[in-house]
Amino acid sequence: MTRPPILEPTADSISRAAQALRAGLLVGLPTETVYGLAGDATSDRAVAAIFAAKNRPEFNPLIAHVADAAAARLLVEFDGRAERLAQRFWPGALTLVLKRRADCPVSLLCSAGLDTLAVRCPAHDAARALLKAFGKPLAAPSANPSGQVSPTTARHVADGLGDKVALVIDGGPCAVGVESTVLDLTVAAPALLRPGGVPEEDLAAIVGPLTRPAEGDAIKSPGMLASHYAPRLPLRLDARDVKPDEALLAFGPDAPQGARMTLNLSARGNVVEAAQHLFDYLRRLDASGARAIAAMKLPERGLGRAINDRLRRAAAPR
Ligand code: TXA
Ligand code: MG
Repeated sequence: MTRPPILEPTADSISRAAQALRAGLLVGLPTETVYGLAGDATSDRAVAAIFAAKNRPEFNPLIAHVADAAAARLLVEFDGRAERLAQRFWPGALTLVLKRRADCPVSLLCSAGLDTLAVRCPAHDAARALLKAFGKPLAAPSANPSGQVSPTTARHVADGLGDKVALVIDGGPCAVGVESTVLDLTVAAPALLRPGGVPEEDLAAIVGPLTRPAEGDAIKSPGMLASHYAPRLPLRLDARDVKPDEALLAFGPDAPQGARMTLNLSARGNVVEAAQHLFDYLRRLDASGARAIAAMKLPERGLGRAINDRLRRAAAPR
């Protein structure tokens, strides 16, 4: 696999990336959550290329990334809740699912046949610079082959996608480390479709308690169905002990001893620090030569929820 150029974010590389996007090509985009595989959201051809590059099922819609709330208002029907949430959490790790406007210029492929569109304004400087230089919304799923571990460094992107991207902007390791929280605002009570970088508690403080999509309502959270975020090795959840042929994904000061390899997400038990390390450590344990990965459970608060969610999906039958 040919490796794409990995470029520091400079005025030069940003304009080169914008040019590639205008030509319908895809670029590796740093965001504060995970790296994105970005293409022109208004181009059917570019959006189709994203699905193909990831081998992503076409029923799973993409997020349109925008430079600010004003740009989002041109795509979707922003209501009062969306205004309050955007005001408080954008730029940041919150994705809002809203009704598409009749004149929404984003490719229908991006919505995967739904009449809704997910929008997010990312906080990373390089992402913001590229959105500004490009001047149009960017469709960007996480920059990994579908179902595999998400990328949090430019290297992860180049390793996973090779020359399916024209270039990767190297924005350093992602500050948040797990994907954005996806919130459905097309329903009476906001529904949490994916726990992520903005904790549920913080959202509830603005819009009240969140609901969950009804059991079996596949269409509401098409990306949350099957096994996901999966390393190659089998993953054992809620580990309290460890076997010598296992690799341990630990958390907190009381990790069991004796694993073939141990990486501690946060020895001091900090969930924010743990999220920053999650995907990189999963990749490293996956390459350790162990028979399986054993993962300790994190507390179900703040980013701990998003991490436990990713671990459960990584452990799901494939
Ligand atoms: O942090 C993130 O959100 C990253 C960075 C690159 O922004 N992107 C990301 O994209 O994680 P992706 O495609 O891997 O995940 C998007 C999630 C999927 O679970 C998808 O099903 C859901 O958002 N989604 C997108 N559009 C939707 C829609 N119209 N209705 C319901 N869910 C939607
Ligand atoms: Mg993804």
